[in-house]
Amino acid sequence: MTTFILAGATGDLARRMLWPSLFALHAEGLLPPGMRIIGIGRSELDDAALHEVIAASLEKSPNLPNGASREDFIRDVRYVRVDNDDPATFAALREAAGPGAELVFFLSTPPDQFRPFCLALKSADMVDRRSRIVIEKPIGVDLASSREVNAAVALAFDEEQIFRIDHYLGKETVQNLLALRFGNSLFEPLWNASAIDHVQITVAETVGIEGRWGYFDQAGSLRDMVQNHMLQLLALMAMEAPYSMDPAAVRNEKVKVLESLRPIGAAEVMGNIVTGQYAAGTAGGLPVPGYRQEEGAATASDTETFVAIRAEIDNWRWAGVPFYLRTGKRLAARQTEIVIQLKPVPHNIFAGVGSILQPNRLVIQLQPQETVTLHVMNKEPGLDGMRLHPLALNLSLTDAFGSYRRRIAYERLILDVLKGNSTLFVRRDEIEAAWKWIDGIHAGIRQTGMKPRSYPSGSWGPAAAIALTERHGHSWYEHAG
Ligand code: BG6
Repeated sequence: MTTFILAGATGDLARRMLWPSLFALHAEGLLPPGMRIIGIGRSELDDAALHEVIAASLEKSPNLPNGASREDFIRDVRYVRVDNDDPATFAALREAAGPGAELVFFLSTPPDQFRPFCLALKSADMVDRRSRIVIEKPIGVDLASSREVNAAVALAFDEEQIFRIDHYLGKETVQNLLALRFGNSLFEPLWNASAIDHVQITVAETVGIEGRWGYFDQAGSLRDMVQNHMLQLLALMAMEAPYSMDPAAVRNEKVKVLESLRPIGAAEVMGNIVTGQYAAGTAGGLPVPGYRQEEGAATASDTETFVAIRAEIDNWRWAGVPFYLRTGKRLAARQTEIVIQLKPVPHNIFAGVGSILQPNRLVIQLQPQETVTLHVMNKEPGLDGMRLHPLALNLSLTDAFGSYRRRIAYERLILDVLKGNSTLFVRRDEIEAAWKWIDGIHAGIRQTGMKPRSYPSGSWGPAAAIALTERHGHSWYEHAG
């Protein structure tokens, strides 16, 4: 029997993502038979109070499967109060978990709780070889602190028992990137510096910091988005073919990419990094305040809410190919995508008949829609000469598979934890390689005194980010049209 123990059961992530995901898995009959679910925390709650939290969370969640009773799911969830600093309180948890149960712990709590929690589990003798633990970002704020967080969890669990979530890896299109690359022979011969001109990875958000000033101001976009989500996308896009979907095989290839990222230090930041911070402007047509005017904000903060990077991967496959990364809050549109732009044809034979050729692009969009499109030049039908236009070959998942339910990324990830499959989780060496690169950028920013440039909410970020690509003859995808 399995028991799923959720620490931080009434927190924001649990309400928005975890309870809805658990319910969706339950509704589709995917949870292990008889699995117990226990919410734990410091607060003096009872089962009924937790049930209300879960009911409200399901109520707010769109796209949940119909046909299963929410009450049936909620009724069996228990709440147990524990205090990480008082291991004696874990006796009640042990009892509620059931004798001989295989325990899965999901820590949706601040990382400073990991150490006392793991120590308390150990002294309550609640960890055996079958146990698993799931942890979430932030895993440190730099390499040194990430090592401390990892060491705290390692006090009670071996690396194979630790599942570090990056929710981007649970997104359908991210997994489809693996299917496209390694399930087809079409792309591989082109997937290198000879054919690819440059790559863009954009994670543009229209939201601001959503009331999370305390967290975000310490983090900034480099830590909040680049160190984890964007570098994971980059690693999957750029890695060599793993020999199978085995967790070690995939993660060995990803870590090599992260280790081959060319360092960006004090001498390189000015030419390769642009940071920004949103000023007042609009979002969805409505006026919104600037970052420094957000609730609880310090008016002098220099935290970046936008970053654009020109990165390079120093290995045989990618030498000389720029990887442009860009993420920001309060941008003009919600748009998350990987754009792979191929080199132009060597010579345009249609120039004499007035046709300008656009280079082929493969666009893998994660948000707002999950689509894959390949832009190719086509002849416009008709007798009137040879007029060429770019057309999009559409590999849309919705077109191909009908209206499938868009799942929460956590559904897939929780299911994989329950199955013990860690392919879509981040290994310790990956986290550390990513931090090493980000730490170098932070040091460069500090040494050069680079400050974020202001950009109006509702724009595409500071103009300098456009210049970053244009200097090299490139342009961000939405500007290219
Ligand atoms: C989180 C960041 O990890 O990812 C947030 O902390 C960000 O700042 C979010 O908004 C974006 O996730 P998604 O799935 O909405 O693209």
